[in-house]
Amino acid sequence: MSKILVVGGAGYIGSHMVRELLDKGYDPLVFDNLSTGHDDAVPDGRLIIGDLADQTAIASVFRNYEISAVMHFASFIQVGESVTSPLKYYHNNVANTLNLLSAMENSGVKRFVFSSTAAVYGTPDVVPIVEDSPLKPENPYGHSKLMIEQVLADCDTAWGLKSACLRYFNAAGAHPSGEIGERHNPESHLIPIILQVASGQREFITVNGNDYATPDGTCVRDYVHVCDLASAHSLALAALLNGSNSMTYNLGNGTGYSIRQVIEVCRKVTGHPIPVTVGERRAGDPAQLVASSVKILRELGWQPQFAELERIVESAWRFASSRGTSVAKKGLKS
Ligand SMILES: NC(=O)c1ccc[n+]([C@@H]2O[C@H](COP(=O)([O-])OP(=O)(O)OC[C@H]3O[C@@H](n4cnc5c(N)ncnc54)[C@H](O)[C@@H]3O)[C@@H](O)[C@H]2O)c1
Repeated sequence: MSKILVVGGAGYIGSHMVRELLDKGYDPLVFDNLSTGHDDAVPDGRLIIGDLADQTAIASVFRNYEISAVMHFASFIQVGESVTSPLKYYHNNVANTLNLLSAMENSGVKRFVFSSTAAVYGTPDVVPIVEDSPLKPENPYGHSKLMIEQVLADCDTAWGLKSACLRYFNAAGAHPSGEIGERHNPESHLIPIILQVASGQREFITVNGNDYATPDGTCVRDYVHVCDLASAHSLALAALLNGSNSMTYNLGNGTGYSIRQVIEVCRKVTGHPIPVTVGERRAGDPAQLVASSVKILRELGWQPQFAELERIVESAWRFASSRGTSVAKKGLKS
């Protein structure tokens, strides 16, 4: 059984990855400082609590375990905060990732799967966005991810590090078991915020801008189920372990939904009216971000299982409801 180090595996996407790795017969080990993650999202006996800023701690993981590959989910993820606190983002997302890569180089581990983002494209000239579209991030978060993509390419040249840069669009949904799901605090992602309205934790959802050049004036995004992200990672991991060269893929469904459409689906799934107010546009929000994932579909045979938005929302609602939020599972299909 290959031991896979999942850095940031107590977080939203990383914890789903751990489940996927177990399902696929790997032996995952999580390294996480629990700054935004949750220890109860990691199966017993698989969590090392540690910070990537601590070079000794991360080096000792590679000394003590025979790691076949590293999957790196640990970073700060809030675009708005990255604009007001850029150094926080460059320290954690860039400098701390360099610590991880140095530990890998020192111990000869040469397989790396990296959580990149659609934010590396900035405002696209053309949608759907393909992987060789211009890379022009518009905030420190996106810059921090693109910097690491460049570092990975340079490490490949220098010491043969083979990496998969996976550029996610909007991760959403929760594990079908209802046991793990999205728990960010503060929550900045659309679907969990809407579901907080449905569960009585917020009074309404604010739509930021309704005058974009889209069919209903609200921003259009591509939502991809977190378990589909995990299955794409496991295909990339298997390819790397089988000797593949470095790769870069978009991960999305290729279908855009406007904020109003997402709210409508959430109303249908939860049975709650979900009141809406309209606020100002947020700086740097492109009108449309929709992925072309044709490359990974074709090259690695990725087959998303939860592409319909309704299924994504149902799974997120199942998780939100199981967390004991204040309403019953109104409208949830079993
Ligand atoms: N959620 C999305 O829609 C989305 C979209 C695009 C890209 N991504 C990327 O996916 C990755 C995972 O996102 P997420 O939503 O699961 O975030 P998350 O905040 O839920 O998970 C990040 C995890 O990393 C840990 N961590 C952070 N800094 C650390 C450090 N210095 N040392 C050790 N552990 C540390 C946190 O405690 C947390 O468990 C991130 O790199 C993010 O940039 C996410």
